[in-house]
Amino acid sequence: MPKIVQIDVTGEIAWVRIDNPPVNATSTAVRAGLLQAVEQVQGCALAVLSCAGTTFVAGGDMSEFDAPPQEPHLPDVVAAIENSAVPFVALLHGTVLGGGFEIAMACAWRVARPDTRFGLPEVNLGLIPGAGGTQRAPRLLGWQAAFEMACLGQMKSAQELLDLGALDMVTEDLEAAVTQFKNRAKPRLSDQTIAPMTKDDETRFRDRALTFAKGRQAPLHNFDALTWASRPFAAAQPKERALHLQLRQSEESIALRHVFFAERAVTKPARLQDVPRGKIAQVAIVGGGLMGCGIAMACLMAGLSVTLIERDTEAADTAKRSVTSLLQGAVARGKISDAQLNSHLQVFRTADTYSLAAEADLAIEAVFEDLDIKRSVFENLAQTVRADTLLATNTSYLNPDEIFDGIPGPERCLGIHFFSPAHIMKLVEVVRASGTSDAALATAFTFASRLRKTPVLAGICDGFIGNRILAAYRRAAEYLLADGALPHQVDAAMRSFGMAMGPFEAQDQGGLQIAMANRRRQDATRDPDERYVDIADRICALGRLGKRTGAGWYAYPDGAKTGVRDPIVEDVIVSYARDAGLTRGSFTETDIQTQLLAAMANEGARIVEEGIAECAAVVDVVKCAGYGFPRWRGGPMHWADTVGHDAVTSALTTLEIASPGSWIRAGVFCHD
Ligand code: NAI
Repeated sequence: MPKIVQIDVTGEIAWVRIDNPPVNATSTAVRAGLLQAVEQVQGCALAVLSCAGTTFVAGGDMSEFDAPPQEPHLPDVVAAIENSAVPFVALLHGTVLGGGFEIAMACAWRVARPDTRFGLPEVNLGLIPGAGGTQRAPRLLGWQAAFEMACLGQMKSAQELLDLGALDMVTEDLEAAVTQFKNRAKPRLSDQTIAPMTKDDETRFRDRALTFAKGRQAPLHNFDALTWASRPFAAAQPKERALHLQLRQSEESIALRHVFFAERAVTKPARLQDVPRGKIAQVAIVGGGLMGCGIAMACLMAGLSVTLIERDTEAADTAKRSVTSLLQGAVARGKISDAQLNSHLQVFRTADTYSLAAEADLAIEAVFEDLDIKRSVFENLAQTVRADTLLATNTSYLNPDEIFDGIPGPERCLGIHFFSPAHIMKLVEVVRASGTSDAALATAFTFASRLRKTPVLAGICDGFIGNRILAAYRRAAEYLLADGALPHQVDAAMRSFGMAMGPFEAQDQGGLQIAMANRRRQDATRDPDERYVDIADRICALGRLGKRTGAGWYAYPDGAKTGVRDPIVEDVIVSYARDAGLTRGSFTETDIQTQLLAAMANEGARIVEEGIAECAAVVDVVKCAGYGFPRWRGGPMHWADTVGHDAVTSALTTLEIASPGSWIRAGVFCHD
């Protein structure tokens, strides 16, 4: 096995190479190896620092973050490199992130390949850099770029860094560049001074960090640490380190690290690890509405060929225009070039007949949410495609087993449930039907990853994982209305928790019809003892189906963008309570948050108990990647762990005692 930090001396040059797959993270062994290397290179004219594999150091070893820091500490290693009598030149490739960028900044010279990317992503983990990143970056890059990297987590290209004077050379041949740095002296970055930000810049940066933060603390902490860079390094860097270590214990960082690890774990389920997977190059999509077009766009952007089948020529032409316009939007936003647009269009075709789907490796159905229509689509597909072509439904609520009943080759049938807009939203629920093979599931995971999505494995139940929790959340929100709250109070409380939108404004955005249709579908099987609040039904009965219809839980006078409180809605709520014989009380912001989050966590616990999700982490990933749950809160299950299961149980039992039937479908939190 190669040493984690290798040192080879050739003539006057010492070649120091980090080899710590997969991303050369600054683990304890790497830090110790680097410190030793600094001693061993003494006597040479130049030390060259590079990394094996696909990238330079791409960050710290986060698995070490939960334990007390081990010596040698990164700031000491970085200082040793910077203070070394033998100057270091860093040869950079891949992604130079966090501790990697801090090490690179301590080197006397930096040479990078043209496609190298640089970042200080600590902010995305609720942290600040801890080894001089916030202190050296302003000295090296200036305030603006340092702010964008440290506070906003932006990545920079090699060209951008070269333009800022932060790289000495950009070249394909890193090693050939080394010799010209021999016998040259360069002042240490930490000895340089930088004038404080102007008052205007300070205000502008702080405001930007505040808007970007949306309730998080880390962007502001990074900003504070940056401002210290105008002071002497020796005084400011220990402050940065102390804050870094303090933030490792913060709820925000623990939650963000939880989601980071959860995403990595659940998108590669252990049961599928060694399962051979098929190759997907050609995709057929049936149904070119909102979802079909978004899925087509996502597939094209991932370099796949797409055939989109619609009901007739007119609908096929409309779908073609929609997908073309999505691609043109990507050109306008600088995501793809005109040449890429053309090459995507060359492998995209629409049709009103199934024959063009014959060569597809995967067929995804995204037609109306109607069992008979979906069944007929798969009957047609089964007659057209190969016997091993994967057949996937994008249904939100129908039972895939009923959709696929009688279709030959049940092992290749499954759900691949995208979220709207499908080319943007990261979450994909891969739904295991009763006949689905592991090979089909594994192939679907690879397909979703290729689309740069976050796939999770789900079993069959009403609404799968995400929409089922959404239904429980909305039900609990309506209980709150019945018991004393008003929509704007509930929405404000959830926004203050960090949700992108509250439950009622979100319903107004998406429309109230789908939830109403679901409630009618569930009428026949709903437990008669379950508490049913029909406020939403009363709102829908007034023709208030959301923003698109001009009114919903809120009024939208003269097409207003945001809804305003409406006395009609508040009358409906109050009269419901009167009809139901309820005395309306009042709720604090915390009461509202606790009730709603407890409802989510409870439904999540049931989902795990029933085996619909393999573990609680899946639930957290679903809510964070698909439903606007703030990542920095870690998801509903992580929230329940943080506040304690007793607090969750008590919130649910208090409501259950006051209003029997509220938690008839209780999860672990409601066990006696
Ligand atoms: P949509 O109404 O926008 O599009 C459906 C399309 O299917 C229409 O263009 C229609 O012409 C076409 N179509 C209908 N019957 C067809 C047939 N026999 N052959 C070929 N094309 C046919 O609906 P949307 O919103 O795109 O939803 C499609 C599916 O995706 C539904 O099952 C829905 O539940 C699911 N879904 C919807 C989400 C959403 O937010 N809209 C999110 C996730 C899933």
